[in-house]
Amino acid sequence: MGRIKLRSGEWFERRDEVGVRHRSTLSTLGFDPQFAAGKPIIGICNPSSELNNCEMGLKELVEPVKRGVAQAGGIALEFPTMGLGAEFLKPSDLPYRNLASMDIEETVRGNPIDGLVLLSGCDKTTPAQLMAAASCDIPAIQLAAGPKAIGFWRGQEVSAATDLWKAWDDFRAAKIQEADLHELEQCISCSYGTCNEMGTASTMATLSEALGMMPSGTSGIPANDSRRRVAAEAVGRRIVEMVSENLRPSQIMTEDAFHNAIYVLNAIGGSTNAVLHLVAIAGRLGITLPLSVFDEISQATPMIVNVKPSGRFLMEHLHRAGGLPAVMREIADLLHQDCLTVSGKAQREHIKTAQCFDRNVIGSLSKPIYPSGALVVLKGNLVPSGAILKASAATDRLMNHTGPAIVFNGYEEMLARIDSEDLDVSPESVLVMRNTGPRGVPGMPEWGEIPIPVKLLKQGVRDVVRISDSRMSGTSYGTVVLHAAPESAIGGPLAVVRDGDMIKLSVAERRLDLLISEQEMAERLSHWIPPVSEHLRGYPRLYIDHVLQADQGCDFDFLRPRSKEAVRFVPPIVGRT
Ligand code: FES
Repeated sequence: MGRIKLRSGEWFERRDEVGVRHRSTLSTLGFDPQFAAGKPIIGICNPSSELNNCEMGLKELVEPVKRGVAQAGGIALEFPTMGLGAEFLKPSDLPYRNLASMDIEETVRGNPIDGLVLLSGCDKTTPAQLMAAASCDIPAIQLAAGPKAIGFWRGQEVSAATDLWKAWDDFRAAKIQEADLHELEQCISCSYGTCNEMGTASTMATLSEALGMMPSGTSGIPANDSRRRVAAEAVGRRIVEMVSENLRPSQIMTEDAFHNAIYVLNAIGGSTNAVLHLVAIAGRLGITLPLSVFDEISQATPMIVNVKPSGRFLMEHLHRAGGLPAVMREIADLLHQDCLTVSGKAQREHIKTAQCFDRNVIGSLSKPIYPSGALVVLKGNLVPSGAILKASAATDRLMNHTGPAIVFNGYEEMLARIDSEDLDVSPESVLVMRNTGPRGVPGMPEWGEIPIPVKLLKQGVRDVVRISDSRMSGTSYGTVVLHAAPESAIGGPLAVVRDGDMIKLSVAERRLDLLISEQEMAERLSHWIPPVSEHLRGYPRLYIDHVLQADQGCDFDFLRPRSKEAVRFVPPIVGRT
């Protein structure tokens, strides 16, 4: 490698006593400081923890990454960050996305790191790392844990989450028994790795590749596949080259690259959570992604990937069918193919040779799995700043629907009442849940898929319109309106809906309206009393005070630059600690 000015040189090339101390610390780790001189320090960000099975496989990727870094002439130093296991972390993993991004940013800021390998996995880890990479803007490359092995139950393939939600409805409708569920729970998560349908984790890994931050063709390699370890070694080699090229995230994650990611999001029928994350990542670079852009791109993009929950197959099938490069080739005419990737080459170079090997899994523009509009952005007097509906996973007959509201003041109240015989519910009802938004809980949990009342399940009803200011797991499905903004906890109109009010959902018109007069709405809002928050200290307090609304990606106000020009990572003064 030619001699370049390394950030870590501030620590190791000093001639004072501080330099001696830093070089001595490097020797404690087993590196000869004289041999290490001038070599880039690569930080390997590894969030793996036993609190998160999705990312346990990352431990096995560290060694090949280190080997690759050494092969290319770098020094690899692994560091931990907070694990964001979507399964255990309560009440929601979303708030901790911002914390993990700060954890990484501050680790980089204060340490001699020249380049970053970001090992990701579960839902919020990928966006947290990309937010941090955007803010630090030092060379960075991401590699995901990969989807877990396909489970089998009674001879049938079962996915990690979507098939659980289906089985749970069968259980509540008394179609299967508790013993069946116990058997199923042993089958759906048969290996380390991320949820194996197009949930949020798979969506975000795919979008990282579409953005250019993850090597082409790697996002869908199964967790247990040796090709993932080979990819890890290549990532180790590549990050050292990226440091010498000074290839930074801001050169890769451009506005055009985000638009590519939104096209891909629609083509894959990806998670609604990705809307929040893309807005938040772009925001760190001073790039604004209004919800209107998501809707415009959605209308222009057919869904061509046939993977659950919107389709039939699983991530491993998608990988075998050609993976994201094959998907991007199908929609190449819609994409900005000049966008740079971590390889140093344009996207065009990666997708021009891609092939589709299974048309059942990857369709085409002329034969899509779902016509355009997989993700719909709604506006209206009930959601003035917008809301999201995953139309590809919803029910056609409910796309244009007017029905009476049944209102739940919060998640616990909903759970307590939803299966009550007294609930005055019909297939026409619109279930409304409030106080579950970014500040309301806090943290906007994935509670938006309100269970179908048992009363309706027994009648064979499997979907009704549901509306909330919370989120939904990317593995879920149904006619579920999410991310209502502004949220009810700060006086959004959801706060003043009453039982029996008529609500009109019109997907064709992109509208969601409470059918009351403007005057009546103003009258109700003027009498609204804000709920009192129980969280008075610590991180939840910080979160409530600074989180932005869903349409702005739920980042913290103080983490976003005021403009593109104001993006600036301030390094520390290096001296005695
Ligand atoms: Fe971690 Fe689904 S819970 S990927």
